Amino acid sequence: MRVAFVNGSPRKEQGITARLLRVMEERLPGCEITRGWEEPCDALLIAFPLYVDGIPSNLLRELIAHEHSLKPGTRVYALVNNGFYEGEQNAGAISMLRNWCERAGLVWGQGIGVGAGEILKREPIMAMATVVARGPLKKYNAALNSLAGHILAGEGGEDIYTNPGMPRAMYIFGGNISFRAAAKKNGLSKREIKHRL
Ligand SMILES: Cc1cc2nc3c(=O)[nH]c(=O)nc-3n(C[C@H](O)[C@H](O)[C@H](O)COP(=O)(O)O)c2cc1C
Repeated sequence: MRVAFVNGSPRKEQGITARLLRVMEERLPGCEITRGWEEPCDALLIAFPLYVDGIPSNLLRELIAHEHSLKPGTRVYALVNNGFYEGEQNAGAISMLRNWCERAGLVWGQGIGVGAGEILKREPIMAMATVVARGPLKKYNAALNSLAGHILAGEGGEDIYTNPGMPRAMYIFGGNISFRAAAKKNGLSKREIKHRL
């Protein structure tokens, strides 16, 4: 079975989307994984970050360009991650992709919306979650397993939206610490990042 992965993140290999795709590759044993749009495929997995509650413009251009070039009936799966805590934030972008599928004569497979994507920045954490399937990433693990299972079976499934297994306040607290550290590294003070234009 040939599965094409499309990475719609402008951060390409440095981003969370690429990390999620690497995990998905491990979960599709026996499949031939191709990258990009060019090869014919049995299933297409489009992964991207949520941008302003929608699809990043670089990916939107690609979707329009390939609207008539894919084999009708190909199943399309979506793996969307976002910065806010709630995975449900991705529901609108997943609907947009579902509409594109219908217009392009493709078959909808399943959509996964992963909230709090930034906590996946540390790849070892992701690998650990894969092994122990416990802790804050347990729900992500289950969602990715569901996606892999449906791709392998060539079936469709219910869309799933996940949040990390940690309180929202803790995620925001951790996020603020990282933002301040990143600002400091770039020569900005806390006051400067709060400055209003
Ligand atoms: C221009 C821009 C717009 C974004 N808009 C949203 C948004 O509307 N909602 C949200 O939850 N996260 C938003 N994010 C955060 C990204 O979705 C998040 O950081 C994601 O994990 C990035 O994935 P990547 O590393 O694969 O690019 C935005 C990020 C950028 C750079």
